[in-house]
Amino acid sequence: MDTGNQKKIIITGGAGFIGSHVVRLFVNKYPEYHIINLDKLTYAGNLGNLRDVEIAPNYSFIKMDIVDFNGIMNFFEQEQPDAVIHLAAESHVDRSIEDPLAFINTNLVGTANLLLAAKTIWQGNNHGKLFYHVSTDEVFGSLALGESSFFKEDTPYDPRSPYSASKAGSDHLVRAFHHTYGIPVIISNCSNNYGPNQFPEKLIPLFINNVLHNRSLPVYGEGINVRDWLYVVDHADAIDVIFHRGRKGETYAIGGHNEWQNIDLIHLLCRLMDEKLNRAQGSSQRLITYVRDRAGHDLRYAIDASKLANELGWQPSLQFEEGLRRTIDWYLANEEWLQEVTSGEYRSYYDLHYHQR
Ligand code: NAD
Ligand code: TYD
Repeated sequence: MDTGNQKKIIITGGAGFIGSHVVRLFVNKYPEYHIINLDKLTYAGNLGNLRDVEIAPNYSFIKMDIVDFNGIMNFFEQEQPDAVIHLAAESHVDRSIEDPLAFINTNLVGTANLLLAAKTIWQGNNHGKLFYHVSTDEVFGSLALGESSFFKEDTPYDPRSPYSASKAGSDHLVRAFHHTYGIPVIISNCSNNYGPNQFPEKLIPLFINNVLHNRSLPVYGEGINVRDWLYVVDHADAIDVIFHRGRKGETYAIGGHNEWQNIDLIHLLCRLMDEKLNRAQGSSQRLITYVRDRAGHDLRYAIDASKLANELGWQPSLQFEEGLRRTIDWYLANEEWLQEVTSGEYRSYYDLHYHQR
């Protein structure tokens, strides 16, 4: 595709939860860029997330598997992108426990393929180029409950699930390509995200969907595990700031300073759901069911994001209760989206809107 002198950015995984927010932000905010959304459209990829941007002249979509080495290499040679923002991944810990190989293929082999393609086309001319790798705080392992310790950029890696191990491996590959071949890279490691368009298998959208349908709310173990929650739009904003002003070769930790024990978060969610659905207080809470704990369940994640705040001035914009209200409102206003993704119906969207065009 000839986009003249426009800077060309490939965003991988742009049809997913976080990717779709990053694509929307970049397409709308930077008309001077051409954004290519490269996504395999797994169960987690849904072009319905991007209906509002798909007609933008500076946006295009390519259905492609990052594990397909030849496909990726040919596409990079044809398109000559100036930058890559890499979000495509298998992302759910429970699935990684069931099927680790899918995670190793996409997260490790897929990332290696993208790095090799970038290295090939940027060789000898790295000026203005950037491979931005979006990663997770889960690579750092697990913190003790009740401690005031935090994950930071220099926390030693200690991944403990197949998901986090595959993401840790991909982070190492990105750094290795920087040190060995001089590829300009940046990595960010973010805490748990929540917000619109998250597939209803992760805690918050799963529980919203279950309350809506009066299904039980499966709390793993005793519900004492702690996560540090960040509204997805704030994460997309941090990626924008780091992409444009971050230092090459650096890592940035992103978090919400917003730790919640699962059971407290679930009680808040239940209260807000009762309020929004005009149900008697306590109705949703009655759906809570304690179930067998997740194997190897990490106890606590918490991020110290002071490097990002001090160097680049980024701060999360939303208080958690406000973010949770907005998220619930979005799911209630988009029950059709929920129905489509839970039935698998959304998978026909690509065929209808792209394949047959
Ligand atoms: P997601 O599961 O919602 O979306 C992943 C996207 O990647 C989907 O669109 C999917 O179709 C695509 N994809 C998967 N395998 C692919 C392949 N082989 N080739 C091409 N595309 C493929 O994930 P998410 O929650 O939006 O996470 C995005 C990124 O952010 C991931 O790299 C994840 O590790 C990271 N991250 C997520 C969180 C979180 O809380 N969700 C927190 C920190 C970091
Ligand atoms: P999840 O959203 O899967 O994110 P992650 O495991 O990557 O942090 O889970 C968030 C927390 O909620 C985690 O401690 C596991 C717990 N959890 C449940 O108790 N029940 C559930 O059904 C799910 C999906 C998660």
